[in-house]
Amino acid sequence: MSKTFDIVLERLTSGSGLPLDTGVGMQNASAELHAGLLGASRGTFFLETFGCQMNDHDSEKVAGVLLSRGYRQVESPESASLILYNTCSIREKAAQKVFSRLGEFGLHQNDGRIIGVLGCVAQQEGEEIFKRAPWVSLVCGSASYSKLPELLAQVEAGNQRVTGLDNDTDETFETPVTRRDNPWRAYLTIIEGCDKACSYCVVPYTRGPERSRASDSILREVRQLAELGYSEVQLLGQTVNSYKDPTARQMRFSDLLLAVADAPGIRRVRFTTSHPRDFTQDIVDAIDAQPKLCNHVHLPVQSGSTRVLQAMQRTYSREEYLEKIAMIRGAKRSISITTDIIVGFPGEAEEDLEETLSLLDAVRYDGVFAFKYSPRPHTPSLKMRDTIPEEEKSRRLAVLQEKQREIQTVKHSSLVGETFELLVGGKSRRENQWSGHTSCHRVINFASQEQALLGKYVQVSVTGGTPTGLVGEQTL
Ligand code: 5AD
Ligand code: SF4
Repeated sequence: MSKTFDIVLERLTSGSGLPLDTGVGMQNASAELHAGLLGASRGTFFLETFGCQMNDHDSEKVAGVLLSRGYRQVESPESASLILYNTCSIREKAAQKVFSRLGEFGLHQNDGRIIGVLGCVAQQEGEEIFKRAPWVSLVCGSASYSKLPELLAQVEAGNQRVTGLDNDTDETFETPVTRRDNPWRAYLTIIEGCDKACSYCVVPYTRGPERSRASDSILREVRQLAELGYSEVQLLGQTVNSYKDPTARQMRFSDLLLAVADAPGIRRVRFTTSHPRDFTQDIVDAIDAQPKLCNHVHLPVQSGSTRVLQAMQRTYSREEYLEKIAMIRGAKRSISITTDIIVGFPGEAEEDLEETLSLLDAVRYDGVFAFKYSPRPHTPSLKMRDTIPEEEKSRRLAVLQEKQREIQTVKHSSLVGETFELLVGGKSRRENQWSGHTSCHRVINFASQEQALLGKYVQVSVTGGTPTGLVGEQTL
């Protein structure tokens, strides 16, 4: 699943080119406020997050655990006694980032601060991290986060080498206190890990096997979130629609969506990321039946060539994927569709790329997140030779982006004159300029004379479109 700033084509998907939640002027639920409410100060922590929305949300939970132990969150590593990096290893570049951060701390290794590495790089590299950066004292993968309080207690007791690296757990990471970054949209993990085995992907290794959270616990949290003032919830999972309710109720994913939407105060429900194989008609029917379910589906295809899909072990062919698209297009209301694509997978020939390009024409996606193949440790595709040179991968990526740019240019200009309901999430430094998301997950930057719009729902009419975004003005 994808997060904005990590993604090459994001600029074609979001208007500002910035992830909304970091947009200028965003109001942040103050962590310091929470800390003040939650007991005596034990020290300060700085937490930096890399990667996907799952990681963002894990960090919210980790922050909750720390705040409840009496830590106070600070904005810079310099002023922190505990420094944590929640890492991503989906592509090599993402994984390297943490080592450059850790390198910066090598110089200060004796100043008494505690440094911890969490998330996918922690799981992937394990104790190797202590060798590369001996000043690190905590290494914990996401599948072990439920043990985080114990691990932190060991670190606090002065243990220099604390690890949480089991990934055969059947537990999900639930915590009584989650410090959420966005005061209106709440992320909620409903399924952790992944049981698919895409040959390029390190996630099954780093996040462990699929574990679904009990439906009653999810619904209880949604009701609490609504009472706290959240109006939009986003259900998260690497393969969110593979959800299997472990309770006797055995709710289907589509039933869960409808039940979440029924919680009083909830106005929008999103879910990401869907796997094509588990995408079924009842999900489309639920979206049709309940307008609170957002009309957007992120359905990664990865390649338009059946041959490459087979090598990727994606478990569907081009034709089967297109049947899923036809199912979504058959809905009574229009549903926007976005996808992820990898170019330069081992053995991808020019004809395979052509098939991916023709798939873009066939589907006409609303947004595409495109990546160059990056060989990852512990993945089956490591055995296939990564023979496509970097420059050729870059060329293929550029060709794909250009094609999608053309598609979006046409799509966006056709939206001029249409009116959308936005949840306002950002305020620009420029006077009277705001931004928000539509239900179909487009970002629109718009003008309004009104004040204090953050967190409100407004009607905005589109006045202009570029390949990269939409602009509009508030209508009464
Ligand atoms: N190389 C390039 N892209 C990858 N992704 C996952 N693994 C790799 C890899 N090894 C992409 C997929 C996935 C998205 C989150 O990241 O497109 O859907
Ligand atoms: Fe990775 Fe495939 Fe699982 Fe997605 S479905 S997390 S790409 S293995």
